[in-house]
Amino acid sequence: MTATVSAARFEHHRDALGVGESRPRLSWVVESAPAGWVQRAYRVEIERGGSVRAFEVASAEQVLVAWPDESLVSRESSRVRVSVAGADGSWSAPGDWARVEAGLLEPGDWVAGPIGAIRNENPLRDDRRPSLVRREFPVRPGLVRARLYATAHGLYQAELNGSRVGDDLLSPGWTVYGKRLRYYTYDVTAQLSEGPNAIGAWLGDGWYRGRLGWRGGFRNVYGDDLSFLGQLELSYADGSREVVATDTSWRSAPSPIIASGIYDGEDYDARAELPGWSRAGYDDTDWDRVQLRHRDPATLVAPTAAPVRVTEERAPLAVLTTPSGRRILDFGQNLVGVVRLRATAPAGTTVTLRTAEVLQDGELYTRPLRNARSTDHYTFAGRPEGEEWEPRFTFHGFRYVEVEGWAGDLDADVTEGALIARILHSDLERTGWFSSSEPDLDRLHENVVWGMRGNFVDLPTDCPQRDERLGWTGDIQVFAPTASFLFDVSGMLTGWLRDLSAEQLPDGTVPWYVPVIPADTMWTPQRPGAAWGDAATVVPWTLYQRFGDTGVLRAQFDSARRWVDLQADIAGPSRLWDTGFQLGDWLDPAAPPQDPADAQTDRYLVASAYFAHSARLVARMAGVLGDTEAEASYTTLADEARDAFVGRYVGDDGRMASDAQTAYALALRFELLPAGLRARAADRLAELVRASGSRIATGFVGTPLVTDALSSEGRLDAAYDLLLERECPSWLYQVSMGATTIWERWDSMLPDGTVNPGSMTSFNHYALGAVADWLHRVVAGLAPEEAGYRVIRFAPRPGGGLTSASARHRTPYGEASVSWHIVDGTLRVRVEVPVGATGIIDLDGGEPEHVGHGVHERELALAEAVSAA
Ligand code: BGC
Repeated sequence: MTATVSAARFEHHRDALGVGESRPRLSWVVESAPAGWVQRAYRVEIERGGSVRAFEVASAEQVLVAWPDESLVSRESSRVRVSVAGADGSWSAPGDWARVEAGLLEPGDWVAGPIGAIRNENPLRDDRRPSLVRREFPVRPGLVRARLYATAHGLYQAELNGSRVGDDLLSPGWTVYGKRLRYYTYDVTAQLSEGPNAIGAWLGDGWYRGRLGWRGGFRNVYGDDLSFLGQLELSYADGSREVVATDTSWRSAPSPIIASGIYDGEDYDARAELPGWSRAGYDDTDWDRVQLRHRDPATLVAPTAAPVRVTEERAPLAVLTTPSGRRILDFGQNLVGVVRLRATAPAGTTVTLRTAEVLQDGELYTRPLRNARSTDHYTFAGRPEGEEWEPRFTFHGFRYVEVEGWAGDLDADVTEGALIARILHSDLERTGWFSSSEPDLDRLHENVVWGMRGNFVDLPTDCPQRDERLGWTGDIQVFAPTASFLFDVSGMLTGWLRDLSAEQLPDGTVPWYVPVIPADTMWTPQRPGAAWGDAATVVPWTLYQRFGDTGVLRAQFDSARRWVDLQADIAGPSRLWDTGFQLGDWLDPAAPPQDPADAQTDRYLVASAYFAHSARLVARMAGVLGDTEAEASYTTLADEARDAFVGRYVGDDGRMASDAQTAYALALRFELLPAGLRARAADRLAELVRASGSRIATGFVGTPLVTDALSSEGRLDAAYDLLLERECPSWLYQVSMGATTIWERWDSMLPDGTVNPGSMTSFNHYALGAVADWLHRVVAGLAPEEAGYRVIRFAPRPGGGLTSASARHRTPYGEASVSWHIVDGTLRVRVEVPVGATGIIDLDGGEPEHVGHGVHERELALAEAVSAA
């Protein structure tokens, strides 16, 4: 028996159509192999232009290996398959062929320009009604392939001959548009036929010119036009190519979308529909000409990840009648998406759908949404056969929907599917699972997953419901490890990091959120802030550890290093960052509702700790990249920053200047303490936990660190006490209050069931869910020991009375899993190591043991205390 190999993957793409890499790196999974088998060589067969070439490489690598052939050129499609050989030299059968196709790689490939309505769309006044654009074109006999390359100023949905192109939503997503505007590639061959054809596009304000930001927000952040940019390329059997590109030959007309905004929702008047507008033969003589705008084709970039899509539908669990007589749908889950309606009603009837995450006193409670209207209006055309609609260019974060103006019997109609939630987010591959013997812990974990789904809508956001939904750097900095376990975020965060670099100031300052709203005077001009700016070092390092991607380190090294150089500059010879504006341990539960930065841990302690940590990460990055000079100089810097931190903030007895959970968690987790003080610091941290009644006392900064700080220093008991506490504030307090996502504040809902009076009170913020990474690595016990899980540490640490736990993760090498049970005082552990990786089984009290791929089972008699717990 030899090995069996999967189909190859290209970079981090789920679907490698229209990739931006001319030399896409290859990965594969060895799906099965005899015990002890190791890859000694691989063979890549590449089929291009009708012939196949094979490349044999003597190497054990299988994750993101170099493209062995000549670079792909624009539009080039090729098929690739991989075989592997073990030590005995015998080759496996090849894996399935996988297709990769390059997008438009050169600015000169683009002939299309952005086109939109010629009429004044009054971008600064109320009337911001978007337009449709269209044109017809002939298809000759012999069409063999057709591709649409598309993007927009604003959001777009393209149609060909009356049907939608693709199933992506909110495209082209949100990037730093001035420098990087994403385009998507669609295979539309099957949507065309010989003879006359038509292409068209819907447009919406989206992030480009829609309202963004708080206190009323800012419009036209990137421009005041709504324009579609599409290049349809038709390839014929005779080798010829025709291009139908957006230009002044297109026509435009006002769309049935009357207004649309990310925060506000969409207003749609079906009476204004133009039946057949994207089909050939439609009479567009009363449509307007279009206006051609400018777009530098050098700014058009291919996606690094899958787009946003609908991934699930949910029916309401209940239709409520509120004390004031309003009708509200309860979906039973705080989710992110839109509501689709199917109904019949007289022409001119308008249904209003208003969303919220919570009820208070039985009524829809929208104060936490601040200035986001979060309301859709649909006006019926009055078609007897019924109408179906969902908004195209908005999304809401909600559990409840108030329905007004429903013409039929709402209760009966809902049971027949008249109103359905369509859940949307970046269509990432799910890769991580966890479960345990404690149902509330499983619910907590489920809440983390939901919080992640709702906040990975093209970019990693703080929250999905109010007038923000921004790529806050601090939030993803703390959540990246958890995110990397649950879903394959490698491509998406690689893309977002490019935006981070694009927004970084020349002096190294990393913005508070990315992309930036330049008109926002609250957060610009940018000022450097700890824990937020450190996304520049922590996120790339996390992607390297979890996905084994050295390319992302190379791409981000300059950005990371510039950030640390700036920290060093600010700190000066003292090596302490003790000046300037800081958010510190944001949302420490002890901070007053209106001043979340007023935490128990000194904000400059936080800043200095992060400086030392980021300097260390840059040193490690340099090490991986083989830059020994940089490695040495950043190691020295990190040592100096660490020593300065200890000198200023740590007493001889291990007591810290801020005697608070976050301070100890930082010092321990960032390895800032001398060995002799670690146990003392951990003991003090455990004492603080006990003194607080095991209630959590950390904000965004301390929360992802505190349980690890305890468990890695022998205070697992205190970590479990924190984890399993149910009084407010705690993780399980939220669960006991019926939370279905992770809240922004520990007490977004107060124990009396009212909503926290703070103006920042979202019910869907992932940051405090960062504890899930500890559930995976320590409670269940599955962690990367070497980058990309090439070596996997299985180190379950049972406690807290749990009798079982398990975790499963699709590593770059294939699926790894761990599960443990306690039966009659014996710990039974089962681990699975994918081929290509090795494992370390590390049970408390036993000698760590190295194992090869396959399933391994171990037993360990537990000490009295653990088995009885
Ligand atoms: C966001 C946060 C963010 C913070 C920084 C908030 O409004 O929702 O999650 O990190 O601002 O101040």
